[in-house]
Amino acid sequence: MIVDGQQVRPIWLDEDRITVKVIDQRQLPHRFVVADLTTVDQVIHAIREMYVRGAPLIGVTGAYGVMTAAINAKRASDRPGFIRQACERIKAARPTAVNLVWGVDRVLKKVLTAYTADACIDAARREAAAIAEEEAENCRRIGVHGAGLIQAISREKNGGTVNLLTHCNAGWLACIEHGTATAPIYEAFNRGVDLHVWVDETRPLNQGSRLTAWELGKHGVPHTVITDNAGGHLMQHGRVDMVIVGTDRSTHTGDVANKIGTYLKALAARDNGIPFYVALPSSTFDWTMQDGVKEIPIETRSPDEVRYVQGLADGGPARVLVPPESSPAADFAFDVTPARLVTGFITERGVCGASQAAIHALFPEY
Ligand code: MRU
Repeated sequence: MIVDGQQVRPIWLDEDRITVKVIDQRQLPHRFVVADLTTVDQVIHAIREMYVRGAPLIGVTGAYGVMTAAINAKRASDRPGFIRQACERIKAARPTAVNLVWGVDRVLKKVLTAYTADACIDAARREAAAIAEEEAENCRRIGVHGAGLIQAISREKNGGTVNLLTHCNAGWLACIEHGTATAPIYEAFNRGVDLHVWVDETRPLNQGSRLTAWELGKHGVPHTVITDNAGGHLMQHGRVDMVIVGTDRSTHTGDVANKIGTYLKALAARDNGIPFYVALPSSTFDWTMQDGVKEIPIETRSPDEVRYVQGLADGGPARVLVPPESSPAADFAFDVTPARLVTGFITERGVCGASQAAIHALFPEY
């Protein structure tokens, strides 16, 4: 995407073809900082501490992590053993987004067919780059398919403003280009649809107010940051026409894991007869799990993410304690929205209902 006149992606390979460069998203929107990853430990740290986050981006970072492992393995006596072990560690960095395991395994498969150290590195580099390009193209297609839904609402409203609501950041920062939930928004906006986005702030880490608001602002998309609890009120008063969110893992039966709070939005949308769409590339479908509520692993993170709020104060980064020092806190990072609350999935192959039959009709090879 273009930011201040520059073409940017959240991850890229340096000219040395060894160093993985990532935008450190913890610092946005107030500081634009790029981090270098050259060791497996750095890759794991960047995923776990959320320099990079969002399902497709975690998948691509994991894929480049295999390249890093192959480079770090150059002098190891048991090269395949070293790389396999590094891959297991990378895959364990965050549990909910299925793209991480998918991306790492896809690159590892290529690496294990190569015979020399250099061939391993080349194979990993090629496959990771291929995944990045595929995900960018998948998101572009999600935008094209989803924009049609927004245009249909615009026609129903005789060109009146279409109000969308999104949760967390499922934008280009979470992907490679375009985003998942934001791709239809950008595409419809580029086609001239009059639209406005309600941006859930998305506590505790505020991916909505920090990242989605930043992205939409850079693209000139009208938006308003709201508290996480405002959505139900806005829906009751006819001020939301459609909810679009991303997902970290959706079962092939249609259950959707996404940032904590998504389920409450889906309940409110159902109660108010508002369409609730989930945008995702096929890499985010879990083709093995049947029951998302029971089976999808939900990440729990440090209680300090709930206890402290981070932002800008007096021109510098600030971290502020909110609850009493002695109050325990808990950070459940994701929840699962059952398929019955999902109007449809917007994928690179088109839009489908949230049922096993509809999903497999679009992806018959699985
Ligand atoms: O904890 P995060 O910031 O990695 O959570 C990200 C989300 O919940 C996104 O909505 C999801 O990954 C979809 S990204 C296109």
